Amino acid sequence: MMRPPGHPISVSEFEADVRAGLSKPGQKELYSKYFYDDLGSALFEAITLLPEYGLTRADLRLLREHAHELPERAGYPSVVVELGSGSGDKAREIIPYLAAGHPITYCPIDLSGAALSRCQRDLDDIRNIKIVPIEDSYVEGLASASKFRKPGGAILALFLGSSIGNFEPPVAQAFLSTVRENLQPGDVFLLSADLVKPFDRMLAGYNDSLGLTSAFNLNLLARINRELGASFDLNKFQHEARYNESEQRIEMHLRSRTEQTISVNGNFTVELQEGETIWTESSYKFLPDQVRAIAEPAGFRCEIQWVDSEWPFAQSLLRVR
Ligand code: AVI
Repeated sequence: MMRPPGHPISVSEFEADVRAGLSKPGQKELYSKYFYDDLGSALFEAITLLPEYGLTRADLRLLREHAHELPERAGYPSVVVELGSGSGDKAREIIPYLAAGHPITYCPIDLSGAALSRCQRDLDDIRNIKIVPIEDSYVEGLASASKFRKPGGAILALFLGSSIGNFEPPVAQAFLSTVRENLQPGDVFLLSADLVKPFDRMLAGYNDSLGLTSAFNLNLLARINRELGASFDLNKFQHEARYNESEQRIEMHLRSRTEQTISVNGNFTVELQEGETIWTESSYKFLPDQVRAIAEPAGFRCEIQWVDSEWPFAQSLLRVR
């Protein structure tokens, strides 16, 4: 799974990716970026509220504890860019401190127009900000946002939620280098990463007792049915989450309960054996040093790491060298 999430989606590209992933010899796979249609995004938002899924609460706790330090550590940027903003609930914790005495342009970047509209509505009451929503992929969006930089002003880029964990390591490394190329010396990048913790705690977050993660995973097949006219029978698949210790990642799979043939709009068919799985997501977990080790070669210096005490999770404040 080498293509990063947050890449624009066209039907023909979706179909080509599904076809390539499901006709691979050996392990079949689908890109996790395709989880996030309107229903998948709503399911993900619900997942963030689950008692077993501590990531989002840890991210918010760290912001509530440390956002007041940002002006001192990051200065007063003229532009705040958030890669994958969703509805902007995390930016809300940060921006009031930065906009207190200095006008800020806030550019939330997301592929969901609905999330961006909510973001604009919900953050509109903050003084001194101009919100410029950008409906685009992370990298194209960052390039557009950097045009709002004031002469001599800095940019603060945010990549929160541990979305970096959904990239394969070489893609994560390349992504950080691309972010760096779109910034300038003195700019700051706040990066969140979920940390390695005891197996049962990590796994519970992806095997919740309400079955929301199972629905989130199965919705990928439902989306292929809806948008590409495929014939997946969801009852014939089972959600599976496992921890791959040597790779330090949670893997999500959909296991076929039976031998079956699925047609995708009459264009191609997929054969699955009983027990065979489709790999749908990797969610890498990090040690704090590993975050520094991928950020530094990309051209960042880690100024500080904040680690949550309840749910091991780190925010790294990176300055562009
Ligand atoms: C968005 N991303 C960081 C989530 C994660 O934990 O990897 C997506 C997710 N997958 C299953 N539950 C949540």
